[in-house]
Amino acid sequence: MIIQPQIQGVVARSCHPFGCQAAVSEQIAKSRTQQSSSDALPKRVLILGASSGFGLASRIALAFGPAKADTIGVSFERGVSDKGIGSAGWYNNIFFHQAAEQEGLVSTNIVGDAFSSETREQVAKAIEQDLGGQVDLVVYSLATGIRPNPETGEFWRSAIRPVGETVEGYSVNFEKNSLDKISLPPATEQEIDETIKVMGGEDWLSWMQFLNERNLLARGCETVAYSYIGPEHTHAIYHKGTLGLAKTHLHHTRNGINTLLESIEGRANIAVCKALVTKASVFIPGLTPYLLALYRVMKDKGLHEGCIEQMNRLFYGKWHDAADRDTEGLIRIDDWELRDDIQLEVNALLAEMTPENFENIGDYQGVLGEFLQLNGFAFPSVDYNQDVDIDALKALHP
Ligand code: NAI
Ligand code: NA
Repeated sequence: MIIQPQIQGVVARSCHPFGCQAAVSEQIAKSRTQQSSSDALPKRVLILGASSGFGLASRIALAFGPAKADTIGVSFERGVSDKGIGSAGWYNNIFFHQAAEQEGLVSTNIVGDAFSSETREQVAKAIEQDLGGQVDLVVYSLATGIRPNPETGEFWRSAIRPVGETVEGYSVNFEKNSLDKISLPPATEQEIDETIKVMGGEDWLSWMQFLNERNLLARGCETVAYSYIGPEHTHAIYHKGTLGLAKTHLHHTRNGINTLLESIEGRANIAVCKALVTKASVFIPGLTPYLLALYRVMKDKGLHEGCIEQMNRLFYGKWHDAADRDTEGLIRIDDWELRDDIQLEVNALLAEMTPENFENIGDYQGVLGEFLQLNGFAFPSVDYNQDVDIDALKALHP
């Protein structure tokens, strides 16, 4: 079978396994060259949301960089079936595992709903059996639109909306190669509450409580969750909107986890990341024009980073310098994005950007390319005319 990209709006309905393999390999190569002078690198790591974006990059950085960590990765992905080829994250899991095994590293993939108690039990068992009973680091990198409410069996659903005002703007459509005008009405109280349930800190805390009660956290264990703040230009849609309120909740949760971990001298961290093209971020209406402008300016200045560059800089740069935190105690790997010179140029491009000129004003080809690569397409090293053997794919398991 020949696999073609199938794009609907901002969602990819197909993925290319060989391209996913290329993506994992490229990231591994970028982590192998890292150096660290710290002798306190985490050796046993649990990653929640390990199959794509920042979670996958964290796993690769920690396994193939100087930490050489054994890892357990939890994700929600699907394999090949009558319905289709499966999801990119499924193949990322498979090819990460193959590479880790070759390297002599422990790598366990757990595919299931991270919000469920079954998955918590599976993780507990895996930490005992595969990691010797405890972890040194828990990376919390879930991004999702729904979370089951265990009391009702129904779902909380996030809504990406401004708060208190209607926002007019543009959103990129990768299917039609267009910049579409959008108007986002303010969130209702219920939409705000549910977004905080889905993307706030409650589940992060609950995971840490579970792992702590089971004595699965090593002395000095750390945890990190990822956040976004962004510049003034995106505040109406992000920082001051529903997602931003959920992130503020996440930031406060750090204090609760720090209290929880006091007895084992553990620590909770928030890393504020740069805006990047991921499966989750292209869903945020109004953010994509900003990405187009940001990519252009940061590339021009030689400062562009993808997920793997961000995670390498986090774990082998900022992490061990306790002084390298902002006044709220957050780790800022959005520092380059928010530089005044960058934002000045970004704002100038955004002021000029229209549905007619966005492909030239912004880095549309770059953003589209990264979007395609998330799903295994657009890798120069992959021969997309090559037949993909579906039965061979069915035999692969994460
Ligand atoms: P992503 O969509 O690439 O990764 C999400 C991961 O969560 C995947 O591994 C997916 O399988 C997993 N997942 C989703 N629902 C799950 C469930 N019910 N059970 C188990 N696993 C599940 O997203 P991305 O962008 O890497 O986001 C990770 C974190 O980084 C989020 O907190 C996001 O807000 C944050 N972040 C993202 C930025 C961006 O520009 N992409 C910027 C700053 C922070
Ligand atoms: Na992730």
